[in-house]
Amino acid sequence: MALTAHQVKIVRDTIPALTEHGELIASTFYGNMLRAHPELNDYFNTVNMANGRQPRALIAIILSFANNITHITELIPKMERMCQKHCSLGILPEHYDIVGKYLIAAFGEILGPAMTPAVQIAWNKAYWVLAKMLIGREAQLYHDWQHWQGWRRFRVQQKVEEAEDVYSYYLVPEDGKLLPSFMPGQYVSVRVMVPEIGYWQNRQYSLSEQPKQEYYRITIKRDRGAQSVRQPSYLWSSFGTHPGIVSNMIIDQKNVGDIIELTHPAGEFFLDTYNTANAPLVLLSAGVGVTPMVSILNSVIEKQPSRPISWIQGSRDSVPFYLHVRKIARDRPTMKVNIFKTQLADSDLAGITYDHDAKIDLAKVHREDLWLDNSATEYFVCGPEQFMMEMARRLREFGVHSDRIKLELFSTGDTEFQVDALSIASGRSLGAPRSGVASGAASTNSGSD
Ligand SMILES: Cc1cc2nc3c(=O)[nH]c(=O)nc-3n(C[C@H](O)[C@H](O)[C@H](O)COP(=O)(O)OP(=O)(O)OC[C@H]3O[C@@H](n4cnc5c(N)ncnc54)[C@H](O)[C@@H]3O)c2cc1C
Ligand code: HEM
Ligand code: HEM
Repeated sequence: MALTAHQVKIVRDTIPALTEHGELIASTFYGNMLRAHPELNDYFNTVNMANGRQPRALIAIILSFANNITHITELIPKMERMCQKHCSLGILPEHYDIVGKYLIAAFGEILGPAMTPAVQIAWNKAYWVLAKMLIGREAQLYHDWQHWQGWRRFRVQQKVEEAEDVYSYYLVPEDGKLLPSFMPGQYVSVRVMVPEIGYWQNRQYSLSEQPKQEYYRITIKRDRGAQSVRQPSYLWSSFGTHPGIVSNMIIDQKNVGDIIELTHPAGEFFLDTYNTANAPLVLLSAGVGVTPMVSILNSVIEKQPSRPISWIQGSRDSVPFYLHVRKIARDRPTMKVNIFKTQLADSDLAGITYDHDAKIDLAKVHREDLWLDNSATEYFVCGPEQFMMEMARRLREFGVHSDRIKLELFSTGDTEFQVDALSIASGRSLGAPRSGVASGAASTNSGSD
């Protein structure tokens, strides 16, 4: 049942207090929930929880949601990313009961006497409005995935070093059945059991080949680690500053013949291969963000060989896939290549291993290589957050509308949910949450671009 106008007001009135204590709510919520349901640790990324990303995200989305409660449908495009991620991780409807219970209880702990029965009922309803939308979309996705539900075992057929610390895995399903197609740009989740913590850990890896029925390929960069991270008290303290857990485990321990478990391909960052328009495509990547771009590139070569493509790639030292890219470009006058490299070695050759001895800078790329004069050009950007923000900003300065810029973050989507806290506090705007960077489908309703 929908919320009454009075209940909407009740929910919105609690926002200032919830905002003020946001991080505390998040840690109370996760702490209590995971103590009561330790099995849920198998789903959560311990690092995202430790570095405060997740608590921050929770606050951001709650504000965003409460701010949009009277026209919730505006959040739908942003929900697609969550639903794809949830399904990739195997989240089920029954999990929503648990989460709802501990989330509302955490609100109660923070609001104290202000959490009257009426407030509790209103928030509970609000949570279920959102939860039901997610559950509904997730049911559709699971339905589309047919017989492949949950984790499927794959055998490593080949392991190839693409660059320093970057390895491709060719994975064939152990059941010997043909694989479903996917949209180039999509990812799979991979899980490994981490004995030190006693839980499974899941990570996403983009499929780095065009769809094939016999095998999937993923390409993983070893995360050597360096950053310092705050450790909330409800998490174990045995990790200090630490190399990445899953990337190192896979690269060190998974070799030809070993088993790797994957879920069905998912994600809303992809090239729509049903759209046969030949609009130019600009593929911008940094570091291991190159992986979905290789899948997109290979698909276009196979399906739309005359489609103009501009390949713009940045790497610190060793550049993955440069030979593959050069080989494709050699026979295609409509393909442009700009490879940026910051740490040159004696063996580097201009025009082969790199084109620009610098960090990626769109000002150094010929205007015609960006197809700025064609108002149908599509831009795909993948890499670290700062890089994506910078590329999106530059493209918008060049007059490219956000609708034509698709972004994939290799971490979580903070920027998509930036909320204008001032406008909420003053009750000024009931518009869609302000979106610093519009991400793919999410751009449709972003308010301030
Ligand atoms: C949609 C999507 C697609 C992706 N595609 C790819 C891909 O194709 N290829 C690829 O290589 N990656 C990809 N990623 C990233 C990948 O999912 C992982 O995030 C990455 O491999 C790192 O995982 P990890 O377990 O090795 O590192 P984590 O253990 O998750 O650590 C992440 C970072 O936190 C630091 N850290 C961890 N614990 C601590 C601590 N206690 N103190 C201080 N620092 C700490 C680590 O040093 C590391 O830098 C993708 C991500 C997404 C969301
Ligand atoms: C009203 C309820 C909620 C809202 C509005 C909300 C909102 C958000 C938003 C906007 C993000 C994205 C930012 C980012 O990706 O970094 C996020 C991240 C996250 N949320 Fe929530 N959230 C809500 C409830 C929950 C619940 C109930 C859970 C699960 C138990 C949850 C788990 C997570 C996790 C795990 C992340 C981090 C994802 C990652 O790091 O990959 N959230 N949330
Ligand atoms: C209304 C309810 C919920 C909301 C609004 C919500 C929101 C989100 C968001 C925004 C993300 C980040 C997606 C991304 O950008 O990558 C996320 C991730 C995630 N959510 Fe939810 N979620 C909800 C319910 C749940 C439930 C019921 C579970 C199950 C326990 C769950 C588990 C997770 C997990 C495990 C992740 C990924 C975490 C990670 O990688 O660290 N969520 N959620």
